Amino acid sequence: MEKGFRLPNGTRIRLVEGDITRIPADAIANAANAALAGGAGVDGAIHRAGGPDILRELDEIRPRVGRLPAGQAVATGAGRLPARFVFHAVGPVYRDGRHGEAEALASCYRVCLEMAEERGCRSISFPAISTGVYGYPAEEAAPIATAEVRLFLESRAGSLREVIFVQFGEAAYRLYERLLGESGLQEAQD
Ligand code: APR
Repeated sequence: MEKGFRLPNGTRIRLVEGDITRIPADAIANAANAALAGGAGVDGAIHRAGGPDILRELDEIRPRVGRLPAGQAVATGAGRLPARFVFHAVGPVYRDGRHGEAEALASCYRVCLEMAEERGCRSISFPAISTGVYGYPAEEAAPIATAEVRLFLESRAGSLREVIFVQFGEAAYRLYERLLGESGLQEAQD
């Protein structure tokens, strides 16, 4: 399933249900961990599909950054993925919503969008960061993700033309579809 939404300035938000490693984009955001050591979930899928080059690059980056705090990200190449870059973002572990989780999650999206523009990317795809192992309730995370992306696209005239939200499973897809549909965005027919 997929659906497109157009912003007044012509930039687009696309919603896709499926595996993020199979969707071409200039940059792919990964839901990584502080150790930048790979893992399960989307992190595991990205390393499996992208191949060993990605972890080799992280091995070189790790000594320089140490443990990456939640809300930050580092960039590597994309190995065998249909992309130029992977941005390894560390999402917050959800505790109770009163320990800065929302700001850290918003920062993950903002930092990856900025890194995409710094590299002249025209498109970037995002999984639902922190909503798996890190326990962030999808209903609380989705409005943060969509608001951060809309704010960025509406306030910039940079290289980014399209942001793709890739949802794993129909429930997550329907949640984003409802949010984006209710936010007054025009559906893109093409
Ligand atoms: N494509 C798109 N989305 C995916 C994929 C995939 N191939 N695999 C999983 N997801 C979805 C999950 O369903 C969830 O909605 O990505 C979202 C994020 O879930 P996780 O991958 O568990 O990431 P997160 O909750 O941020 O936890 C990060 O998990 O894998 C470890 O190393 C990772 O320690 C880190 C932690």
